[in-house]
Amino acid sequence: MEILTHFEDHILRIQINRPDKKNALTVAMYTEMAAALNQAEHDPAVRAVLIHGHPQVFSSGNDLQDFITHPPTGEDHPVFKFLVAISTATKPIVAAVNGPAIGIGMTMLLHCDLVYAGANARFQLPFVNLALVPEAASSMLLPMHIGYHRAAELLFLGEPFTAAVAHQFGLIAEVTADGDELRSATAAASKLAAKPPAALRLTKLLMKKGMAAAVAKQMSEEGSHFVRQLQSPEVAEAFQAFHEKRAPDFSKFS
Ligand code: COA
Repeated sequence: MEILTHFEDHILRIQINRPDKKNALTVAMYTEMAAALNQAEHDPAVRAVLIHGHPQVFSSGNDLQDFITHPPTGEDHPVFKFLVAISTATKPIVAAVNGPAIGIGMTMLLHCDLVYAGANARFQLPFVNLALVPEAASSMLLPMHIGYHRAAELLFLGEPFTAAVAHQFGLIAEVTADGDELRSATAAASKLAAKPPAALRLTKLLMKKGMAAAVAKQMSEEGSHFVRQLQSPEVAEAFQAFHEKRAPDFSKFS
């Protein structure tokens, strides 16, 4: 099972469990994660959601092979259903991150409420390097949250950045000692699960409602560009290079 769920003490845990592929996400995994989030939304017993991977890896993002075999073609694709579910969730979502958190492994965190990252977490937004465009409304949320110029550095250069930098930019709640991230996230989820649930849901709604329509619109626009760009020769070169474990050559594209 590549997505594991466990319900206990009013917390629904969702674990990304594909460590041999660095927790790269496939269509089947998005489908299961979206289903778990929708279950959390509709089950009154669930008061908080906790998303985590493994101590060495959170997620290396979309499975690059799956992009070719199951490319997103429209809004009914599992990746978009997952993004809608996580971005519109009304219950609090806590995440524990360590190791690589790349691509959607990072952008999904923009839709979590409390993120605890171990000191060895490494975030990266390599969309441009792969000839793709950002998703999860990150092209809007990042400039808004951390400022245009910091966002441009992260999204244009696509280089890894540390948990300390993510914290400094206000993208995560706390940097924990390596290996303590899940403990800290679980403790936070337990505190949230003991709060008055309606007050918590309303507070989240009040904090997010001003941006909700803009987030949905941006995601849809990003999705259209993403789908088109996936068919491009630039992407073919980027993916081939990943497969052949070499640097891509974009010199022939205009
Ligand atoms: N899609 C598909 N397979 C992936 C993957 C991804 N996003 N990330 C890692 N893998 C696979 C590797 O191909 C490798 O498979 P193999 O053992 O069959 O050769 C395995 O996971 C281990 O990865 P490896 O690269 O050997 O581990 P590493 O520790 O040297 O590096 C990463 C880890 C995450 C830094 C590196 O794998 C990476 O950069 N992955 C791609 C990230 C990416 O671009 N994601 C897309 C974002 S849109």
